[in-house]
Amino acid sequence: MPQSLTETFAERLIAWQAEHGRHDLPWQNTRDAYRIWLSEIMLQQTQVATVIPYYARFLERFPDVAALAAAPQDDVMALWAGLGYYSRARNLHRCAQVVVAEHGGRFPSDPETLATLPGIGRSTAAAIAAFAYDAHAAILDGNVKRVLARVFGIEGFPGTPKIEREMWALAESLLPERDLPAYTQGMMDLGATLCGRGKPRCEACPFDSDCAAHATGRERTLPTSKPKKAQPERYVDVLVIRAGERVLFERRPDSGIWGGLWSLPELTPPLDAREDDDASLRDRIGARASTLGAAHGVVRSMVPLLGLTHVFTHFKLHLRPWLVTMAQSAESSAATGSQQAWMNAGEVAGAGLPSPIRKIADALAPDDGQLSLPA
Ligand code: ADE
Repeated sequence: MPQSLTETFAERLIAWQAEHGRHDLPWQNTRDAYRIWLSEIMLQQTQVATVIPYYARFLERFPDVAALAAAPQDDVMALWAGLGYYSRARNLHRCAQVVVAEHGGRFPSDPETLATLPGIGRSTAAAIAAFAYDAHAAILDGNVKRVLARVFGIEGFPGTPKIEREMWALAESLLPERDLPAYTQGMMDLGATLCGRGKPRCEACPFDSDCAAHATGRERTLPTSKPKKAQPERYVDVLVIRAGERVLFERRPDSGIWGGLWSLPELTPPLDAREDDDASLRDRIGARASTLGAAHGVVRSMVPLLGLTHVFTHFKLHLRPWLVTMAQSAESSAATGSQQAWMNAGEVAGAGLPSPIRKIADALAPDDGQLSLPA
C-alpha cells in the first residue's frame, strides 16, 4: 500500500535537510541550551545574517547564563542595540535570572516548563527542547506555518485561533520518533530557503509532487493572508464660502487631524453616510454659510463641487465641497492670530493647507490668480 504524505513527511524532510539544509550556522553543532536559547531569541523576527555578528559579540561578553544573569541591564541592552524589538532583550535578561535563581542555572528540558520562562513562547520552547535535549516537540513559527499551509493545502489565515489549533495538531502529528534536531532544523530550512514567501522553488522541494499548493497552483495564495479590516469611512461636507475674490478659511484646532493647518469650514455634525436627503442637507449648508458669511450679505448661490476621497492610514475621508457665493465682497483678510480668515488666491497659496483641501483650493484658483469658478 502506498504510504501517505503524512507518514513519509518527516523522513523526507530529514533526508532533504541532511543533503540540502544548513549545517554550519554558529548555533548549530552544540547541545548547550544557553547558546541555543540565545540564538532562538535573537532569530525571532530577525534574519540569520543580521543575527550572526550579534550572537558572536553576545557570547563573547556573556559566555554562559550565569554571566548574563549577573550583568547590568544596560550592558545587555547595549549589546542588543540595533537588533530591534527590545522587549526581547529585557525578557532575555530576566529569563537568565530566573534560570539561575529557580532552575539552578540549567535550562529546563521539557518544553512546557521552558514556555513558562520570560520571552519563550510555545514554538521557541519546542525549538530549544528539540535542539538541546531531543525533545519530541513541534515548532510552529511563521515559516513553518507557510510550509504546512502549502504542503497540506490549509486555507484560512494562520493567525486565527482555529487555523492555528489545526496547524499545531498537524505539526505534532508529523513529528518523527527520532532525529528531532535534524527534523526541526529541516522545517526551518525549508521555510527559509525553498518555500519562501516570494517565489517558492518547488522544483527543488522534497514535497514537490505531493504539495497541495503546487498541485493546484496555489503557491502564491497560500498561506491565506490576514483579512484586511474594512477601513472606517467618514463623510464631510466642506464649505467654500466665497465673498468676492476671497474665501473663508478656518484654522484647525491643534489637536486632531490637520492640527494647526488652515482648512475649510465643515458642516457639523458630519454625516455618517451619504444618506441625508438633499433638501435638508442644502438647508443646513445654507444656514451655516449664512452665519459664517453674515457680514457679506445673503447667500446668492450654492453648488456642489466634485467630491474627493483622501485615504489616511486608518480611515477614508470623503470630502464634498460646496461652493457658496455671498452677495457682497469681503475686503480684507482677518487679523493675524485669528482662527478665521477671508483669503484671496495669493494668501491661500502661502497658507498651510492639508493636501485634499489644497486640491479643492487649486481647483478654484485658475491661472489668473482669481478664486473664481462658475457660480
Ligand atoms: N530561525 C529560528 N531558529 C533558527 C535556527 N535555529 N536556525 C536558522 N534559522 C532559525
